[in-house]
Amino acid sequence: MSDSVKAYRAAVLHFLAAPESQESHEYFTDGLLVVEHGRIARIGHAYDLLPQLPAGVEVVEYSDALITAGFVDTHIHYPQQGMIGSYGTQLLDWLQTYVFPAERRFADLEYARLQARFFLRELLRNGTTTALVFCTVHKESVEAFFEEALRLNLRMLAGKVLMDRNAPDYLTDTAESGYADSQALIERWHGRKRLHYAVTPRFAPTSTPQQLALAGKLLGEYPDLYLHTHLAENRQEVQWVKELFPERKHYLDVYDHYRLLGARSVFAHGIHLCDDECQRLGETGSTVAFCPTSNLFLGSGLFDLARLERHDVRVGLGTDIGGGTSFSQLRSLDEAYKILQLQGQSLDPFKALYLATLGGARALYLDDRIGNLQPGKEADFVVLDYFATPLLAQRIEQARGLAEKLFALMILGDDRTVKATYAAGRLVHERGKTDKTVLL
Ligand code: GUN
Ligand code: ZN
Repeated sequence: MSDSVKAYRAAVLHFLAAPESQESHEYFTDGLLVVEHGRIARIGHAYDLLPQLPAGVEVVEYSDALITAGFVDTHIHYPQQGMIGSYGTQLLDWLQTYVFPAERRFADLEYARLQARFFLRELLRNGTTTALVFCTVHKESVEAFFEEALRLNLRMLAGKVLMDRNAPDYLTDTAESGYADSQALIERWHGRKRLHYAVTPRFAPTSTPQQLALAGKLLGEYPDLYLHTHLAENRQEVQWVKELFPERKHYLDVYDHYRLLGARSVFAHGIHLCDDECQRLGETGSTVAFCPTSNLFLGSGLFDLARLERHDVRVGLGTDIGGGTSFSQLRSLDEAYKILQLQGQSLDPFKALYLATLGGARALYLDDRIGNLQPGKEADFVVLDYFATPLLAQRIEQARGLAEKLFALMILGDDRTVKATYAAGRLVHERGKTDKTVLL
């Protein structure tokens, strides 16, 4: 039998649609996932599929485990992993004090390569197989990131930061050089294997109107590019945007004016928005990345998920490292639950897991390729260990039914919960084997 076929046996859960709809998910207590040439070939009950497997196909068995789709992180900064957990400030001071000096080092290609390798391993250790990633203003930072993502054959999205004002000299480009560098990177990387380019103005305050206009021009020049930026995260930031762009009716209108809204436009945070901004995000098919650990760590505010949903805005889940404090989307879901609790909203575990998988893929317009385990999808999946820690194990043993087990995973889970991660059918992380990494 061909080596290209392999089967995985465990409990299997994946989403077919948003959890509000009927039959939103499929669950197999004793399931089998058959993978061929890096894609899902079959999914179903082990008792149905095992007898149909051609002779000689290897079956990998995971006991006390749940297989689900790889996690999707819709907003993260790879250059900020080294300054994660920097003390005491809110967004604007935090950027000046900690972030900008850390990002300066990515002018050095070799340093960026080391960081990119560490970063992608950390994502995989946490079960995240796709992420939309901020690099720095230096094109070297993007080269290093995409080189490594290509080598690992991951579905990844990233881009060079555009920043031509209100930042230290060592970290600024110009409207023209930012355009030219982005264009060269797009030509080299966009659409190569599983990679996508995101035009990445940091946020409105650090780009001149000319730079924002050129960002909009780029989006019109290449098909299926992404736009990745920040929006209305912090009250002082919102006030600053008002002062810098007095002619625009609100923060989002700045981006709208420069034609930066639409499908594949991802705005991180979106906490301090008016109704008009919510409506415009919804009607343009734009996405907002909800970054719970960051919003709490930086004291930014409480994300109002129900309100954005009322306006039909696509929402993904982001870690926002290093404003965020964990690479784990299980940790994000734990904090998301608490943020919503504070507003009288709830986050049931099915919806939570949907957000971390198919919801994230949908937010990135990639749900035709990733986000669930339907035949034909790319075989990006995780194996979650119900018995990863003593506390989780005893809670799982007392759980009544799947919903309670999932809730225990999202409240008590973290990187230890991820027993294995597969990308395009290849084992890319196995817990406990970090040093003899499967990737080298
Ligand atoms: N707004 C502008 N830049 C950043 C950043 O690096 N992190 C966060 N959380 N918000 C930002
Ligand atoms: Zn961010």
